[in-house]
Amino acid sequence: MGRFMTTFLLFSYLWITFSAALTLLPTTQPSASSTNMIYSINFKIVNKKFDEDHHNSSSPAFMQLAQEIEHQMNTTCKQIYPSTFVTYKVKSFENGSVVTKSESTFKTGNTPTPEQISTYVFNLPKGSNETNFLNTNLRIAVDSVQIRSKY
Ligand SMILES: *[C@@H]1O[C@H](CO)[C@@H](O)[C@H](O)[C@H]1NC(C)=O
Ligand SMILES: *[C@@H]1O[C@H](CO)[C@@H](O)[C@H](O)[C@H]1NC(C)=O
Ligand SMILES: *[C@@H]1O[C@H](CO)[C@@H](O)[C@H](O)[C@H]1NC(C)=O
Ligand SMILES: *[C@@H]1O[C@H](CO)[C@@H](O)[C@H](O)[C@H]1NC(C)=O
Repeated sequence: MGRFMTTFLLFSYLWITFSAALTLLPTTQPSASSTNMIYSINFKIVNKKFDEDHHNSSSPAFMQLAQEIEHQMNTTCKQIYPSTFVTYKVKSFENGSVVTKSESTFKTGNTPTPEQISTYVFNLPKGSNETNFLNTNLRIAVDSVQIRSKY
């Protein structure tokens, strides 16, 4: 038993050292899918009119709305998931009123589940069909929030 434990601990120690050394090795750009978890996050804003410019990611209409949403998500996710949150980005807007398609990246290991993001980030109310999107005046349809793993 004693010897087994010693051997076990030795191997654990070697493994941890080996793993730690691996993380220090210079790598070619690590592939996002092996170290990160990417979620697609879609939701519908109900109190904003879709404008043709929302399709154009260089337009002021797109940039202003995307930045407002990204800033809110960045701030909230950094607060709730300081060790795993990496980034959040709006990918596109679509008509309906404004359907927002976005992506959020988390480090793997202790990554929040889609359910946790829905509960703790979006803070969706029960028994109500609309809610404010974080600290904005944008109203979102509760049943429109979709969070899915991309990989
Ligand atoms: C968005 O969809 C509505 C309803 O179908 C339509 O009336 C409107 O013209 C569309 N807006 C744009 C900018 O495509
Ligand atoms: C997109 O928006 C930019 C900035 O307003 C503008 O210069 C460009 O012409 C627009 N592109 C299209 C396809 O409308
Ligand atoms: C959100 O956070 C990312 C990563 O920290 C940063 O690159 C981006 O500029 C931030 N966006 C906004 C609108 O705050
Ligand atoms: C939520 O319910 C109210 C009252 O029935 C309705 O006016 C509103 O359009 C609904 N919102 C959505 C996003 O379905």
